Amino acid sequence: MNLIKCNNYDEMSAQAAKIIAAQLMKKPNCVLGLPTGSTPLGVYGILVQMNKNDKIDFTKVKTFNLDEYYPISKKNTQSYHFFMHDNFFNHINIDEQNVNILNGEAENPQIECELYEEKIKNSGGIDLQLLGIGQNGHIGFNEPGKALKSKTHLIELTQNTINANSRFFEKTEDVPKKSLTMGIGTIMKAKEIVIIASGREKANAVYELLSGEITTANPSTILNAHNNVTLIADAAALGEN
Ligand code: GLP
Repeated sequence: MNLIKCNNYDEMSAQAAKIIAAQLMKKPNCVLGLPTGSTPLGVYGILVQMNKNDKIDFTKVKTFNLDEYYPISKKNTQSYHFFMHDNFFNHINIDEQNVNILNGEAENPQIECELYEEKIKNSGGIDLQLLGIGQNGHIGFNEPGKALKSKTHLIELTQNTINANSRFFEKTEDVPKKSLTMGIGTIMKAKEIVIIASGREKANAVYELLSGEITTANPSTILNAHNNVTLIADAAALGEN
């Protein structure tokens, strides 16, 4: 795994944005896998600015988001559908037809997950997957457990994740208990993966990731088995201050 050490959040965001911009220039019709959460907000901000300054173009880019709460309405301001449009898609020149996000309103979540896998496959697969990391090491919403699922699936969120994500909701009880998420295999099929981490709360998960051991107790550690992963972490996430 390549490691890019950064002094702070802004540096981490700039480094990740640089890799994504380079990917867009190399392959203008590339397929990006995208995360939500607070960590990628800086990256999205830089990419929006670059797009406004005509430095990068999204007209041919396809995106697949990692996950979505279930059930949740697209109009709910806490949905990842809303988050992605509000923070990114509404501000860049992407074609809405090329934006793919799991449907938190799907009547049959299993069929929704199968269709999503099909869509990713038919797009030619993900060229570059950007990831955040949960405090417990989750990637997407693949929570620690005895057996991790390979394909896109419906998952029960752990109390740790519900608590961590409750900061975005009025009450902890409002956080949906389930989510739809790309599976570990879906993520691992990406040709290149960039994982970003910032802040002390991530230090333990990042330490385990960097230890090289692979364990379902920290799903991110599976990335040690991928041949093109870059971890971009700030000093706090590396436990350095
Ligand atoms: C959520 C998302 C993850 C994300 C994680 C970390 O649970 N499903 O994809 O990586 O939270 O979020 P944050 O960046 O806000 O710490």
